[in-house]
Amino acid sequence: MLKEEKKAHLVLPDGRDIQLDVITDNMGNHSIDIASLRKDTGYITYDPGFMNTGSCMSSICYINGEKGILRYRGYDIEDLVQNCDFIEVAYLLIKGVLPNTKERQEYTQLLNKHSLLHVDMRNFFRSYPHGAHPMAILASMVASLSAFYPEMEERDPEDNIDITVTRLLSKMRTIAAFTYRQDKGYDFVEPRYDYSYCENFLNMLFSSPVIDYHPDPVHVKALNQLLILHADHEQNCSTSAVRLVGSSEANLYASVAAGCCALWGPKHGGANQAVMAMLNKIISDGESVESVVEKAKDKNSSFRLSGFGHRVYKTFDPRARIAKKMCKEVLEAGHAQDRLLEVALKLEEVALNDDYFIERNLYPNIDFYTGIIFHLMGIPQSMFTVLFAMGRLPGWIAHYLEWRHDPYQKIGRPRQVYSGPELKKVIPINER
Ligand code: SDX
Repeated sequence: MLKEEKKAHLVLPDGRDIQLDVITDNMGNHSIDIASLRKDTGYITYDPGFMNTGSCMSSICYINGEKGILRYRGYDIEDLVQNCDFIEVAYLLIKGVLPNTKERQEYTQLLNKHSLLHVDMRNFFRSYPHGAHPMAILASMVASLSAFYPEMEERDPEDNIDITVTRLLSKMRTIAAFTYRQDKGYDFVEPRYDYSYCENFLNMLFSSPVIDYHPDPVHVKALNQLLILHADHEQNCSTSAVRLVGSSEANLYASVAAGCCALWGPKHGGANQAVMAMLNKIISDGESVESVVEKAKDKNSSFRLSGFGHRVYKTFDPRARIAKKMCKEVLEAGHAQDRLLEVALKLEEVALNDDYFIERNLYPNIDFYTGIIFHLMGIPQSMFTVLFAMGRLPGWIAHYLEWRHDPYQKIGRPRQVYSGPELKKVIPINER
């Protein structure tokens, strides 16, 4: 990160010429350093949605929205999906380097060792009403981990951060699987030491004492790739939530629980579930794809094409491209046709040839195809955002750790433009 000699000039209404540092990052992107703007001028900036605001310096993830580039720690997402599994990528995001064989084996053993849930926590699942949204359970169970594993509340959390990270990475998968089993009214299935992270997850979902279940290798590969696609994405809404909560020095579990809640929204991680609902509705209502696209363009309708558009990507989301290819592979392996994919491909074709979408650079994002793959793996729609959270967890952890070690970070506390009333006097209630 370089602070260039060149300055940006801001001329204020009273004629003051304010000189601001220009920062040029490693990819040649420029930003203006306004860290002392209010102190020097009394002015703040106004940027709703933080569309133009960098909240931190970060070395974890790089996105080029115009070119459709996504890199974790410098590696292209396509390269990682082709050559790594999810645990390697989680290790990369959290520790900053890819593991060698020995490191990979040791990490897997550590994750297996911490994959069980405290027996008292298991009772929590039985107290939720049937049909409770899995994200409600996930967020509260993740926050509750700090009650059962309070190491980070001790004086110097740094002493225990590694064990906390490993516990969370492993137990999140167990919580996700138990949430599904609870909803189905099934007994919990424990993780196995001889299964990989993804094999274990599928086994913990679908294993049954009355069938000879073995995780389908095609689904294990697809799940690994899907979790990698979801693993990080710069300062998105949920990662920013984790950073903001973490900036108050709340523990990792509490900060990640905040990330789960932010991810839940249909504008963010809830979109994969909304895509499936949209595709299923098109099929069940027999509505034409063309009329759905027209409805998405109608400003009088709140309907938007779920899985389309992105704050940063103004071209194809590279993850959507990979997921689209993966979707076809999973279908071919299952020798199946799928009406959902047919409708999705038609929807994509119509939208991408429509001026409204072209003018606004609206393309399929990660959520457009991933839901179909989860569906083909037998995972219910209500669990889609939970799987997004499982994938995004190493990214959340990496950003939480990066904030903790960033010398420039203070507690996050944005300012505001006040639009409320001027001074008012209270009238006693009996005179109001
Ligand atoms: C994720 O940030 C991340 O990195 C997120 C994520 C990650 O990995 O963490 O990539 C994951 O959240 C992907 C996005 C999932 N959400 C959806 O698919 C929901 C549908 N998409 C939209 O809600 C929207 O595109 C957003 C929320 C994704 C982005 O919204 P922006 O950047 O605030 O854009 P905008 O709302 O200002 O839209 C610009 C224009 C508007 O029209 P005009 O006012 O210019 O006329 O595009 C229109 C919008 O109405 N528009 C859409 C649309 N998305 C934007 N119109 C129809 N359908 C859509 N999907």
